Amino acid sequence: MRSMVAGLGGQVRAATGVRVPDLSPAGELLVVGMGGSGIGGDYLAHLASLHGARVAGHKSYGLPGWVASARPTVLAVSYSGNTEETLSAVDAAADLGLPVIVVTTGGAIGDRAGAHGWPVVAVPAGLQPRAALGHLLGAALMISTAVGLVPSPVPDLEEAADVVDSLTASGGAGWALAGDLAGSLASRAVIVYGSTGLTAPVAQRWKTQINENGKRPAWFSVFPELDHNEIVGWSADRGLNGRLGVVTLVDRDDGADVARRRTITREVTANDVDWIGEVHSQGDSALARMMSLTAIGDMVSVALAEVAGIDPVPVAPIEDLKNRLREES
Ligand code: PA5
Repeated sequence: MRSMVAGLGGQVRAATGVRVPDLSPAGELLVVGMGGSGIGGDYLAHLASLHGARVAGHKSYGLPGWVASARPTVLAVSYSGNTEETLSAVDAAADLGLPVIVVTTGGAIGDRAGAHGWPVVAVPAGLQPRAALGHLLGAALMISTAVGLVPSPVPDLEEAADVVDSLTASGGAGWALAGDLAGSLASRAVIVYGSTGLTAPVAQRWKTQINENGKRPAWFSVFPELDHNEIVGWSADRGLNGRLGVVTLVDRDDGADVARRRTITREVTANDVDWIGEVHSQGDSALARMMSLTAIGDMVSVALAEVAGIDPVPVAPIEDLKNRLREES
């Protein structure tokens, strides 16, 4: 997993050369996908919104009711191509006659794409889905450009790749920071705080990477909403709180209102929360800043596994659950 994380920058750079088939223009995209495949849709939704384009995400069976009238183009992302919810979503899209574009390594969704004539962007096989974010998000960005929603992402992909490479270089500052954070978080459940906008989807990515690579409980919450509920929960149980650690993700575009809230929230909860740390984005473009935080979170998740002496790669409970679902369907 260390080498897969070190390959993230290379994946982002490789996306600049992705061959996207001819696609019809789209007014909006609905990204369907789960877990390590679905998170790229959350990143894309934010990045597209910066250009005034609408990208929604759907992480469940079927499709939301609004699609029948809005008729978005459905972008289905499944690394394995065999994810039950994503297959259900594309089947619903087919029933409605919606345009579908697929990003995958193959599997059942590849077969469906062949049968329906849906365009496919293939990504390299042989990785864990969560370790393929650079390929999956890069492909989704290139597709978004091809359907006319966003300008070319190539300059931002190149910058993001450089920023990520500098962070994940062996022996570099990124691994040192990740090691420090992992040392502080090793015996805690982790709560990752982001803010509406750029850091919200990255906070979710940190949570899922800590779950899957670090094999630790983790959750995420988002400013300003968390100020309207979560801060009350902190007052309940000092014993529990001592086993939790908070990492706050900070970006220069969070805005003065959120920055003010962060400071006051910290003061209001100071007696109850064992605050562990803040991590600041790096880079210029929004994509580079998102990917810088992503890279650090990925490294923290691996470092947590290493501190615990466990292999970050296998995700047995997910495999077991999928097998059970297959057997019982
Ligand atoms: O990280 C993982 O392995 C999971 O979160 C998967 O991404 C998720 O189960 C969906 O599978 P896929 O990405 O193959 O569609």
